[in-house]
Amino acid sequence: MIEVSNVTYDYPTKAGIVHALRGVDLKLEGGKLYAITGRSGSGKTTLLSLMAGLDTPTSGTVFVNGVDLAKTDQDRFRREQVGMIFQAYYLLPQLTAAENILLSYEIGKKKEKPDVNALLRAVGLTSFHGKKRSTQLSGGEQQRVAIARAIAADAPILLADEPTGNLDNENSRNIIAILKRLAHEKGKCVVVVTHSEEIAGEADVRYHMSDGRIEARD
Ligand SMILES: Nc1ncnc2c1ncn2[C@@H]1O[C@H](COP(=O)(O)OP(=O)(O)O)[C@@H](O)[C@H]1O
Ligand SMILES: [Mg+2]
Repeated sequence: MIEVSNVTYDYPTKAGIVHALRGVDLKLEGGKLYAITGRSGSGKTTLLSLMAGLDTPTSGTVFVNGVDLAKTDQDRFRREQVGMIFQAYYLLPQLTAAENILLSYEIGKKKEKPDVNALLRAVGLTSFHGKKRSTQLSGGEQQRVAIARAIAADAPILLADEPTGNLDNENSRNIIAILKRLAHEKGKCVVVVTHSEEIAGEADVRYHMSDGRIEARD
């Protein structure tokens, strides 16, 4: 489904060029939960951004279903194919939690309207939370709303950057169980960047990043 082929990514900065990715090769299929671990600064977020079509590689290619992402309509790709969960939640503060969840459905123009209350329950929240503005929710609650929103988009690719960083153990396990089910039962390609060994242990396939390079881990 996603193939990352010899990809590099440089950030030009005043202090010089930062080589964030130094030749990454990766093949990801639908139906699996992937975990990517690695220290801060190893290139995890940069890699997710390229797979999401938020940016294009400095060199190398990201293929999705055989098509070079850099040569397609990336906005459309993101809208239709990708659900993203960011480190910072990016909920819209002027909307309620429920409205935030429905946003991805409206942008993605899916036929079937998602059941917001079921989505809230799936991430351990209730309709009570759905009526609140995101600013009235705790960090962990906002994170769960962001996860529900990404699930509501019902995209074939789900990319999550430290999705459980602000959650307690029980809620983290719950979220990973949901992501795993989306992979196994709905055939989605789910990629989770995580610091947690416990979460990485839940994945079907594990990768580790170090200084802009990636390798498989058992
Ligand atoms: N916008 C940016 N400008 C300059 N350097 C950046 C930028 N974003 C990330 N970097 C650098 O690129 C490298 C990889 O960063 P990142 O992909 O965020 O790693 P991770 O998510 O694993 O912490 C780091 O050295 C980081 O400092
Ligand atoms: Mg990061």
